[in-house]
Amino acid sequence: MTETAARHHDRSSPEAEIVAALGRRAIVLVGMMGSGKSTIGRRLGARLHVPFLDADHEIEVAHAGMTVSEIFAQHGEPYFRDGEARVLARLLEGGPCVIATGGGAFMREETRARIRARGVSVWLQADGDVILRRVKRRSDRPLLQTADPAATIARLIAERSPVYRLADIVIASRDVPHEKIVDECVEALHACLVSGVAATPSPASDTR
Ligand code: S3P
Repeated sequence: MTETAARHHDRSSPEAEIVAALGRRAIVLVGMMGSGKSTIGRRLGARLHVPFLDADHEIEVAHAGMTVSEIFAQHGEPYFRDGEARVLARLLEGGPCVIATGGGAFMREETRARIRARGVSVWLQADGDVILRRVKRRSDRPLLQTADPAATIARLIAERSPVYRLADIVIASRDVPHEKIVDECVEALHACLVSGVAATPSPASDTR
């Protein structure tokens, strides 16, 4: 446990036990845009008293404040994906923290291998209608600037779910108070890291 985390926790709290079991590893939230990775990640970090890092934001910082949309428009998606992989590799070296990844990051095998080595992954699984409701107010998702965003979301969910499912833990992200989802994350992380109970069946032949 980091000194900061140790100072804040009652030694026997589930939160303290999670941070102790985590060691130098990160908690890495994966899943679709609008699944709540940043919202839940920020609260989970605060609950555990470890830093919260948003990978999309770190990519923007690394590009002198260009937005993700601007990076997509000026340099293209493959360039963004390479930068995203590099940023995540760096964040994973930084010690215990909660990281919100961009929705496509976990699709890269090399990134999944790094996350497996240096972190515990949590898939925030949200249904298409929940995602659509959450993202439609904003235009900052370049992949959703299509004629039919609902169809695009459905396609991405179908393509990505088999890969997101490889995460260590799956939590259903739905329209309930954020703290309820955080509670469920804490419970599942405790079961996975402290009690040694697999929160999701882990596939025997994982080629991630
Ligand atoms: C993307 C998700 C976005 C951002 C980029 C691409 C994706 O992040 O990385 O627009 O491929 O799903 P969020 O999941 O944080 O919205």
